[in-house]
Amino acid sequence: MPDAYLSQEIRVPVPLGPRAYEVRVTSGDPGGSGPFARSALDATWAGKACRAALIVTDRNVAGLDYLPACRAALDRVGIEGRPVVLPAGEPTKCLESVVKLYDELTAMRADRHTVVVALGGGVIGDLTGFVAATYARGLPLLMLPTSLLAQVDSSVGGKVGINLPRAKNLIGAFHQPVGVWIDTETLNSLPARELRCGLAEVVKYGVILDAAFFGELETRAQSILDRRGEALRSIVGRCCRLKADVVAKDERDETGLRAVLNFGHTVGHAIEAVAGYDGAYQHGEAVAAGMVAECHLAERLGWIGPEVTLRLSRLLERFGLPVAISGLDPNRLTDAMGRDKKNQRGKVRFVLPRALGHVELTDAASPDDVHAVLTALCK
Ligand code: NAD
Ligand code: GLY
Repeated sequence: MPDAYLSQEIRVPVPLGPRAYEVRVTSGDPGGSGPFARSALDATWAGKACRAALIVTDRNVAGLDYLPACRAALDRVGIEGRPVVLPAGEPTKCLESVVKLYDELTAMRADRHTVVVALGGGVIGDLTGFVAATYARGLPLLMLPTSLLAQVDSSVGGKVGINLPRAKNLIGAFHQPVGVWIDTETLNSLPARELRCGLAEVVKYGVILDAAFFGELETRAQSILDRRGEALRSIVGRCCRLKADVVAKDERDETGLRAVLNFGHTVGHAIEAVAGYDGAYQHGEAVAAGMVAECHLAERLGWIGPEVTLRLSRLLERFGLPVAISGLDPNRLTDAMGRDKKNQRGKVRFVLPRALGHVELTDAASPDDVHAVLTALCK
């Protein structure tokens, strides 16, 4: 690997005191994950003595080159990896999978120095992280995210968890990884729909925190869609930096700051809940339409002018994401929003833009405003 190429890697510190770690964003350097893992582990009490890893992945990712590359990279730094391959998809994020991984750890006589490695998308990251948080009261966790959503969102910040049959993400913990190693070349094999879903979260960061970044996404949309290495590394790095900054200020989601990451998600989660989790609308697609609806709501409150919503809609459409939905009943969406985790004292709370790059958590939207916006969304 030429030095100039490697020097373009991006290092993002996540400054969390004793739980601090680094996100490293590279392109085409699978071997680099070994030395990165070794130094991230060596910085911790449990990791220093680490000689064994449970590597958790799913069937889609295991069918590519990443699993053998990961095992070889860890092996070269004295860590023997035992792979476990689970079915791909959201149903894997369940208690049965947790038990299976506990059994694997027991079979390999894992102790507190065994690292648990999540090699895959957000499903594998959340599940593996939850197992790492709970087995033996906490094992070191290494994140090797391979989907765009996992690279820009779920692998950073320490939220880990699983679903119950009737409630997504209800069982969980905060458990920060020792490090996050991102190779954006893994995105070359990601199905186009999954890339688009990750892009919805990328656009979200521009709206909530960084107007200049939003402008860059508009300018560089084609390079991103063409999956150019430099463009992907740059947007992934920028998103990780933005998320790390939020997480550093509100690690446990207690001050309302981390809630800004929920822009588009109040309506988005309602769309997913009403449409069903069988793929009619994937999470990123629901969030895209949800962001547009929530911008319309901000317009009704007089917080932003229509030009913000227009720019957002245009960018989302450029990335092939929906800006409206069809076939859903707005009344059912309203009911579903009544169960949102951000609600307080029976009032639905939204994260809404005051300007491009700045959002606030508010309960100022009236039921009439919400109904009008949802009706327009579902037309
Ligand atoms: P996912 O893990 O199901 O991955 C999406 C699909 O892409 C899967 O089929 C997977 O096998 C495949 N895939 C992954 N990497 C690939 C690659 N490089 N090449 C080819 N195929 C690949 O889903 P996701 O979108 O990555 O993550 C969604 C999950 O993340 C949800 O469960 C959500 O709740 C969770 N999430 C968690 C957080 C958090 O902060 N913990 C934040 C956002 C989302
Ligand atoms: N994805 C929301 C959060 O990490 O807080």
